[in-house]
Amino acid sequence: MKSRYDIFSKISSCLEDEPGRTKSGLPYVTLSYAQSIDGSIAYRPGRPLALSCEDSLVFTHRLRSIHQGILVGIGTVLADNPYLTVRHVQGKNPQPIVVDGRLRFPLDAHALKNQRIPWIATSERPDAEREQVLMRSGVKILRIPSNSNGLIDLAALLRRLIDMRITSLMVEGGAEIITSFLKHQLVDQLVLTISHVHIGGMHAVWPLQINLSNPPVLRNMEWEPCGSDVILRADMVWNEQ
Ligand SMILES: NC(=O)c1ccc[n+]([C@@H]2O[C@H](COP(=O)([O-])OP(=O)(O)OC[C@H]3O[C@@H](n4cnc5c(N)ncnc54)[C@H](OP(=O)(O)O)[C@@H]3O)[C@@H](O)[C@H]2O)c1
Repeated sequence: MKSRYDIFSKISSCLEDEPGRTKSGLPYVTLSYAQSIDGSIAYRPGRPLALSCEDSLVFTHRLRSIHQGILVGIGTVLADNPYLTVRHVQGKNPQPIVVDGRLRFPLDAHALKNQRIPWIATSERPDAEREQVLMRSGVKILRIPSNSNGLIDLAALLRRLIDMRITSLMVEGGAEIITSFLKHQLVDQLVLTISHVHIGGMHAVWPLQINLSNPPVLRNMEWEPCGSDVILRADMVWNEQ
């Protein structure tokens, strides 16, 4: 491992090197979230918690600005009511995408006030009345097949996104979404903000979900201090023999 204090340029070049399509033909996926030193991303499920220091917040917004899409689960929208925009630096807003199988997206969500209104990835048979209400508020509904657990099939969603010219995607959470992206081996790059506090709360990855006979390997790991936090970046390699 090495610390070269140039993580952001490394990330930018990763996105440029992958001109949209990874070998799998899916968008290039950056998994990025803030965690405490003990691996917590929230104190309790469904509760917001500010973990990043000012400097790492700026870093995260720079990261947002170089991705074409930003994705969160509906649990994060309900807990944090995020704008999903670039505000702490000058830069382009990515397209917000919310994974929301039951159309629980609230009509007073902050993300509806943005210039770029969210796309909502929902099941193939959504509640028609709710779908109409949400569409009237400006959201685009993407109907995506469900997997055997009744959740949105994330690989199918990524295939849809590439058709819609989203070639790079920043996945910000929460825990269930992070776990699903890892479980289905859909992450190309990990960018962690590690805050120096202990929280003892909800962990980023659910237990017993990763296939231990074929765990992901982190390659080209780098880190740098960022205010009072540390930013860590690595390529995620799957199926390494
Ligand atoms: N520290 C950080 O960087 C950070 C970042 C983001 C969020 N958070 C925290 O994380 C918490 C929210 O996390 P969460 O786990 O409760 O919710 P989440 O991961 O944001 O959303 C999970 C929900 O998405 C829907 N979903 C549909 N298909 C899915 C799939 N294939 N895989 C996973 N989810 C799918 C499900 O709801 P339906 O069944 O209704 O479809 C599921 O319950 C909040 O406390 C928030 O503050 C922290």
